[in-house]
Amino acid sequence: MSRRALAEDVGEVLVTEQQIEAAVGSLAQQLTADYADKSPLLVGVLTGAFVFMADLVRRLDFPLEVDFVAVSSYGDATVAGELELTRDVSDNVAGRHVLIVDDILDTGRTLAMLTDLFRRREAASVRTCCLLDKPSRRAVEFEADYLGLEIPDQFVVGYGLDFAQGYRNLPFVGVLRPELYES
Ligand code: XMP
Repeated sequence: MSRRALAEDVGEVLVTEQQIEAAVGSLAQQLTADYADKSPLLVGVLTGAFVFMADLVRRLDFPLEVDFVAVSSYGDATVAGELELTRDVSDNVAGRHVLIVDDILDTGRTLAMLTDLFRRREAASVRTCCLLDKPSRRAVEFEADYLGLEIPDQFVVGYGLDFAQGYRNLPFVGVLRPELYES
């Protein structure tokens, strides 16, 4: 399926390529002001954050390192299951400035769990940077330190975000046509 055919499955574009570029640029500016002398470790949350991470780091004008974690939730799919770290960072984070990078802040459980984890490991600082936020979905009290754009409570795909592992390569963020979720 070509990217053009994938794009035809999208009923509504919520965030255009240009809006994403502007948001990433603005986040990069804020981070460059705050982290220029800190050599932070940027920790991306797989898989969705890989596109955002790749665009963001290329606009950060200071020394940094990159690593990734993966989190999955298990238990009954209909209720919020326990979160499990299925991939960990490679190095000790004690004394490091950790910036967790994620594509979307939804219930807040993933970033709350990861922030707590790196704090317990005695990172020098732990902050979070999220491209998208669905504030109406929050289940735990959590706000990102650096935030790109707020979106309504709709399931979105594109720019790293998937439906059944597909659509991650779309350059914009959109909502699939309803019949695709139903089939
Ligand atoms: P929480 O709820 O812990 O979850 O803040 C954040 C993670 O949930 C996934 N997520 C989505 N993935 N489209 C997606 O493809 C969405 O609309 C969406 N909302 C939440 C995502 O993996 C994110 O890291």
